[in-house]
Amino acid sequence: MARRYTSPLTSADVTPKGLYLNRRQIMAGAAGILGAGLIGGGARAQEAQAPNTFEEITTYNNFYEFGTGKNDPARNAHMLTTEPWSIEIDGMVDNPGTYMLADILSEMTIEERIYRLRCVEAWSMVVPWNGFELNDLLDLAGVQDGAQYVAFETALRPDEMPGVSRPIIDWPYREGLRIDEARHPLTLMATGIYGEPIPNQNGAPVRLVVPWKYGFKSIKSIVRITLQEEQPVTAWNSYDPREYGFYSNVNPNVDHPRWSQATERRIGGGLFARRQPTLMFNGYEDEVASLYEGMDLSVQF
Ligand code: MTE
Repeated sequence: MARRYTSPLTSADVTPKGLYLNRRQIMAGAAGILGAGLIGGGARAQEAQAPNTFEEITTYNNFYEFGTGKNDPARNAHMLTTEPWSIEIDGMVDNPGTYMLADILSEMTIEERIYRLRCVEAWSMVVPWNGFELNDLLDLAGVQDGAQYVAFETALRPDEMPGVSRPIIDWPYREGLRIDEARHPLTLMATGIYGEPIPNQNGAPVRLVVPWKYGFKSIKSIVRITLQEEQPVTAWNSYDPREYGFYSNVNPNVDHPRWSQATERRIGGGLFARRQPTLMFNGYEDEVASLYEGMDLSVQF
């Protein structure tokens, strides 16, 4: 496998792993990052707090560019060349251009964030990510007045991605956020998991993580970011807008047309584990509900 860039120092580099996990949880709690989602959400939320194992997080994946089976990305994603890596930042920005990821990283603060991940398919995990706030990257690019949305694109490399020979979605994988969602402090660009460089199957070398939205919004292996006035065309929304809304905020009260979204299966919980209730905005309601004030979330879902 091609070697990736080495990520900047984190506490994992200077602290034995057991201590570092504890300290990281404390640090994250102190920063108020986990909020109601993981720390203050009472017994039920606590239950969901223990992160999944590295093994679980890296062997049960959705990354259709490498196949549709949950284990296909782990088997095939080593084919993706992740270094060097650049991101095209264009549209309504003061500093458009091709940015080398290594140069971006030299300007960013890498943080550790333990977030829930809730897939639209009704399974979930808790992942300890390392990454930087998308907001900081947007500041680097200089967002112009009038930019109302951010569009993202995954790399499209038929030679390295066996899954794209099948027209499952209209490749490349595309996603988008409203500008206030993109600038929200919870919105992360992840470059690591458990203090290790992010594995290819999880979206190396850099992927989006929007913890209050269904997992498909968290687009992997990003090569292009565009600031624009209009709502971006996105992969799953164009595939079927009735099943996959542009917003796709986690919402236990709005079912997918083909299944309930009221509960979820926690990966690693074992065969006989009870399904757990899905939380509004995936447990991040206190942090993000204000973004959607005045919207009918069953219509704009
Ligand atoms: N990004 C790309 N480029 N291709 C994909 O197929 N799958 C999405 C999202 N990002 C996907 C993607 C879905 S459906 C989910 S649930 C998450 O990635 C899964 O992230 P994980 O494999 O790291 O758990």
